[in-house]
Amino acid sequence: MSAPRSRLVVLASGRGSNFVALLEAIRRGTLQADVVALLSDRPGAHALERAAEAGIATEVVPLERGGDRDAWSATLAARVAAHAPDAVVLAGFMRVLAPSFIDRFEGRILNVHPALLPSFKGHDGPAQALAAGVTITGCTVHVVDRGVDTGRILAQAAVPVLPGDDVARLHARIQVAEHLLFPAAIADFLATTRRPVDPGFDAARLVSPPLPG
Ligand code: GAR
Repeated sequence: MSAPRSRLVVLASGRGSNFVALLEAIRRGTLQADVVALLSDRPGAHALERAAEAGIATEVVPLERGGDRDAWSATLAARVAAHAPDAVVLAGFMRVLAPSFIDRFEGRILNVHPALLPSFKGHDGPAQALAAGVTITGCTVHVVDRGVDTGRILAQAAVPVLPGDDVARLHARIQVAEHLLFPAAIADFLATTRRPVDPGFDAARLVSPPLPG
């Protein structure tokens, strides 16, 4: 019996190129999952259009300027939970989620970050790398915990900083790596965390024989 396909809910705030890379990996069969919904905090996010083109359900849950972040997180969590996801994928989601959201989907929220964590956490990883003068940066896929970009690292890829780079050029080079790394890391994560119940499972086999002595 083949395992049921994993259900992914994607959260995205922007262009959605990582989301499209996930769809490509699903189409090729390297990521055995379905994106069951894409939710955004930004009504104009290009990712929403890309999801609609792919026939994927979309929803906007905006955080108004000066709005209550905890209430917004609770609404977002309820919307996400309605899709019964196996994993919540942050593909360029630029808001910090409240602890209540993290706790509800604990260990099942995955993020891609445009730097080699634990360096250059936060919103502007490529700009921080340029300012620091490093010659190698990259991208990281990690499990999201209550901190900002502090969760367990699942995979990383290195990307060179080249002479003449500006933030846009460097970020574009990092994104090429992200588009390969993120789907592969999600596939690995799902393969190692999902344990479908084996109908032939016999608990008695797990009982240890009595120890000698
Ligand atoms: C990606 O480069 C991702 O690493 C970054 O936003 C970009 C979204 O691009 N995320 C963060 O900086 C999160 N702190 P996309 O919308 O084209 O996928």
